[in-house]
Amino acid sequence: MNEETHAFDTPPEGANPDWTIPQDWSRYSGEEHGVWDTLFERQAKLLPGRASEAYLRGLDVLKLSKPGIPDFEELSERLMKLTGWQVVAVPGLVPDDVFFDHMANRRFVAGNFIRKPDQLDYLEEPDVFHDVFGHVPMLADPRFADYLEAYGRGGLRALDLGALKQLARLYWYTVEFGLIEEEAGLRIYGSGIVSSYSESRFALDDPSPNRIRFDLKRVMRTEYRIDDFQQNYFVIDSFDELLRATTETDFAPLYEEILQQPDIPIAEIVPGDNVVTHGTQDYARRKAAG
Ligand code: PHE
Ligand code: FE
Repeated sequence: MNEETHAFDTPPEGANPDWTIPQDWSRYSGEEHGVWDTLFERQAKLLPGRASEAYLRGLDVLKLSKPGIPDFEELSERLMKLTGWQVVAVPGLVPDDVFFDHMANRRFVAGNFIRKPDQLDYLEEPDVFHDVFGHVPMLADPRFADYLEAYGRGGLRALDLGALKQLARLYWYTVEFGLIEEEAGLRIYGSGIVSSYSESRFALDDPSPNRIRFDLKRVMRTEYRIDDFQQNYFVIDSFDELLRATTETDFAPLYEEILQQPDIPIAEIVPGDNVVTHGTQDYARRKAAG
């Protein structure tokens, strides 16, 4: 998920000054590799026809179907040849500036622990399945690879400009929960969706959530929830569009403008929205009613 909260300001015992740790691949037990395999099989079956072509291509070219938790060194070697990205292990959530700095240098930070067999569907901190299965395939796509590097630099800048919350929303609604309109139809590419058995269906099929065309300022003003399925998804036309909309714009004046405006509550449709699906919000209402 989005590394936006942090508990420590110095790396824990045994970590490097940049917060990385060895993945220690040989330490994983058979049971832990088994959890990866179970999750992998379940998702891999579900994703053709649902996940973006770029995502599926990444899964394939990175050979993520090889059984067991991937070895970051081997994975990084493949990724490095394709787009210059690497995957490095960290002990958990890291401070924002550390997270952004790695990203700006094409290092994707991933948790090295894996969820327990009784947590297949829900966990609070991103584990290696979310981070690697969810995020890394998209990094094999050259446009997405450029986007995330630029995002890292943008993050460092947003910290200086006091606009971290606004920029974090962009990450949330693209990198974590983004949808894309492809020729074949609506597809998922956000890591939080592709790594979730239930949300990878909900995000596309359920009448409950809003699906709205991507608009940079709109997204950066929109609140989000971290405890359940999203009530809004934003739909891009292409990764080119996403890359252009973000890298060809100076965010400083944008931040200035939107910091004066009210935040947009989670499920609200506002004037100017280009709505793909006006959601019923039935799911959220049912949940709230208990
Ligand atoms: N162009 C943005 C800025 O001026 C940086 C950025 C690029 C942010 C890509 C997000 C994604 O701050
Ligand atoms: Fe994530």
